[in-house]
Amino acid sequence: MPSPIRVTDFSRIVFFTGAGMSAESGVPTYRGKGGIWKEYDFESCACQEAFERDPDHVWEFHNYRRGLVRKCEPNEGHRLIARCEQVLPSVTVVTQNIDGLHQRAGSKRVHELHGSLWKLRCDRCGWRDEDFSAPVDDLLCPACKALAATTPRGTPVYKRPGIVWFGDSLSGSVVQASCQALDASDLMISIGTSAVVFPAAQLPVVAKRAGATLVEINPEDTPMSELYDHCMRSTATEALTELCQGLPSGS
Ligand code: OAD
Repeated sequence: MPSPIRVTDFSRIVFFTGAGMSAESGVPTYRGKGGIWKEYDFESCACQEAFERDPDHVWEFHNYRRGLVRKCEPNEGHRLIARCEQVLPSVTVVTQNIDGLHQRAGSKRVHELHGSLWKLRCDRCGWRDEDFSAPVDDLLCPACKALAATTPRGTPVYKRPGIVWFGDSLSGSVVQASCQALDASDLMISIGTSAVVFPAAQLPVVAKRAGATLVEINPEDTPMSELYDHCMRSTATEALTELCQGLPSGS
């Protein structure tokens, strides 16, 4: 049945996105058929313990993922969300994705709950690179390397991806900004998340308590489906095309 919802009837919209948002761009999801965690073991490539044990292996995995995503383009769904931000009063993206495709499609107000594949940081000295898209060949932190050159017994310290790994905490400021947007929203559209990873999976409850209308876009049921006012069992691009009917064209 077609959804009675149109984004143009709302003024404070939050798009809450997960891996299914980028599936039609060719980025693999984490779970389900072809999911990353079916092929790779997160305990050996996506947690702090693994990084301390074997940084080369962890970086091999992340360089592989960076290479995959670099070849992908934003899809029509990403572009429609970016257009919503241009033409509607208040639009925020709260994403679990680390691929940067919302920003590449033109979205400006994006809160990345799980960090980004394109960010690098050093936890020892605080060095950061916020937008590094080339392959990471030199794994040593440049600031610590300079220091080690002057400190005879300095140990090597590795750059790590600016991603929230299993066991890491989410950034408090990103969660706060996301909750503010959800609390102020009148429409919250969840797209392509299995809703099994906490605390992210819990955030739509903030919009529900604030009285927003909740729409879930996912070809499959999720453990959070009952929270939603409308469930659209189709793909991100199909459902967003329907919800965005009548949206003025952007600049
Ligand atoms: P998942 O891989 O767990 O779930 C992807 C969801 O997208 C599934 O529910 C699919 O049914 C749905 N889906 C697939 N294709 C779709 C399409 N074309 N349109 C719409 N939906 C589609 O991904 P997430 O829920 O994002 O965390 O996973 C949450 C977190 O788990 C990730 O951020 C990542 C992972 O471990 C970290 O890496 C910290």
